[in-house]
Amino acid sequence: ARLVVLVSGSGTNLQALLDAIGDDPEHYGAQVVAVGADRDGTGGLERAERAGLPTFVCRLGAYASRPEWDAALTAAVAEHRPDLVVSAGFMKIVGKDFLAGFGGRIVNTHPALLPSFPGAHGVRDALAYGVKVTGCTVHFVDDGVDTGPIIAQGVVEVTEEDTAEGEAALHERIKEVERNLLVEAVGRLARDGYRIEGRKVHLGHVGE
Ligand code: GRF
Repeated sequence: ARLVVLVSGSGTNLQALLDAIGDDPEHYGAQVVAVGADRDGTGGLERAERAGLPTFVCRLGAYASRPEWDAALTAAVAEHRPDLVVSAGFMKIVGKDFLAGFGGRIVNTHPALLPSFPGAHGVRDALAYGVKVTGCTVHFVDDGVDTGPIIAQGVVEVTEEDTAEGEAALHERIKEVERNLLVEAVGRLARDGYRIEGRKVHLGHVGE
């Protein structure tokens, strides 16, 4: 399967995918064909360039409106003919064109146990709420914010130190689980196929 990965930050989830694929995309069942970002100079773009991958940037500020940005992002991704689009720490909400173009084939990773704590501050919100466990969720993207059908989740205990040390330390611990969860989930979707029925994702050979 052809993957286009979208990033906004340091790109460690992207790196986990690249490391899992290594020099044997056949074995993993997928290969990253391009990496896109919503801003220049991110760690994710650097990691892509280091891997010799095509990259593109669609900055919201470069377009007169959000729909025009969405159309441009859709075109930039479509150029690489993805089977799956992986949003790995991509901090923008995709719009109508993008969902029309890739709906049902966009996988996102979120650093909280959805439906709890959706949005851009899931780690901070969970910590502030005083949860005893949090974690991460890999899900398909639909027209809501972090609301699409869930593919996989991983649990992370919240410790006393987390409460003291704060969000960054807890987020790093979540990311350790998240990177493996994403690599496993994307690999299975790519190798075994899947079917989405309402809110449920059925992994495995479609149509059997
Ligand atoms: C991930 O935890 C992702 O869930 C969140 O931001 C983080 C991105 O990390 N949206 P990286 O850019 O993959 O290192």
